[in-house]
Amino acid sequence: MSLSKSKSKPTPNSKVNAFSAIDNAESVTSPFSVESNTVQNLVEKGMQNMAQASIKDPATVDELSFVHDAVLLPETVAAVLGVKSLPSPKEPSQTDAAIGQKGLQMSGIYVDATFGRGGHSRLLLSHLADDAKLIVFDKDPTAISVARELARTDSRVHVVHDSFATLTTSLAALGITQVDGLMADLGISSPQIDDGSRGFSFMRDGAVDMRMDTSRGQSVAEWLEQVDDETLANVLYEFGEERHSRRIARAIKQMDSYESTLELAEVIKVAHPNWQRGKHPATQSFQAMRIFINNELGDVDDFLAQSIHILKTGGQLAVISFHSLEDRRIKQFLQRHSKGQYPEDENLPMPPNRPRYFSKPKRVGPSKAETSHNPRSRSAWLRMATRSDSEYLPDGEQ
Ligand SMILES: C[S@@+](CC[C@H](N)C(=O)[O-])C[C@H]1O[C@@H](n2cnc3c(N)ncnc32)[C@H](O)[C@@H]1O
Repeated sequence: MSLSKSKSKPTPNSKVNAFSAIDNAESVTSPFSVESNTVQNLVEKGMQNMAQASIKDPATVDELSFVHDAVLLPETVAAVLGVKSLPSPKEPSQTDAAIGQKGLQMSGIYVDATFGRGGHSRLLLSHLADDAKLIVFDKDPTAISVARELARTDSRVHVVHDSFATLTTSLAALGITQVDGLMADLGISSPQIDDGSRGFSFMRDGAVDMRMDTSRGQSVAEWLEQVDDETLANVLYEFGEERHSRRIARAIKQMDSYESTLELAEVIKVAHPNWQRGKHPATQSFQAMRIFINNELGDVDDFLAQSIHILKTGGQLAVISFHSLEDRRIKQFLQRHSKGQYPEDENLPMPPNRPRYFSKPKRVGPSKAETSHNPRSRSAWLRMATRSDSEYLPDGEQ
């Protein structure tokens, strides 16, 4: 988890504010004006949203029943299967009714790197043949319980409770060295936000945890206890693009303890000099601490790098991201490896002839229908590319 102090200019996502959707999901689903609300009001509105999200009794609801609405679902599954679009099982085409009813029946080995509640996995499985395999990863123990439940009834599913950054070694442990398709739907899921006890929410009280994998690693509270003001400010700036990072970091470090997400959000709110309408002032700071504590950007870099040699020639990569810090990485990775253009070659008189590991990448956003049905999808981008036939050479050998 490296930190740089450089204050590069933020480049907001071109469609919406860079930190909307899941990172700003609470703001997206609650169209309040922060200026006219106390934190108590925010909490009450948060509770109303929970009720509207058909969670009848937050105190007794089973964690597994929190719902996640999969984003760019048919687009991502079509991309990972390498087809233009999916036949709908409900409306079989007249020319090939069998395909419509039984799915595409594709063979091969596929990976869902971020199982969540399995929205993408389940649609993918409906298009896989009986001899296909689907390996699913997640860091989150609750997501893994749901995945194991699915694996009990579907022998094509294999579950890995680990980061997708362990892609190559985890697949090797299953005897797999190459796959036909890889998909990832980055960030956190709605159930993780909706469960206040996980600590991701600034509108539902809970311990200041924010770990995706609660079985290992340091919580945000533990980290805040020992981090110095300057490092904290750098994290808020680098991973949240929070322009008032120093002032907020000082206020956080003056707190006596870090036991309540609502208390932490209140301190950030008071310290923040520039509230924006419809956006809680703690949005970017919470996002930054979450990204840092889960090493989210480092994991994405590792996953992308490994995709080059784990994908077969003709294999498909499909990655959904929700904010510009991630999207920019995926875009630059695919540009580099599809055009063979490396930033370090720019000033060389004779740039080396680099291999091109991917075909021309494509990008897809959500339809209007999807954004109105699921506001969380608003800032999503799906980037996809096909592994081309360049041989994989470890860095430095090309
Ligand atoms: C947006 S949700 C995925 C939702 C899923 N596509 C669905 O339809 O239910 C992201 C999931 O990825 C998991 N996750 C995030 N980073 C991860 C990583 N580095 N390795 C494994 N899982 C990760 C989170 O725990 C979360 O469950």
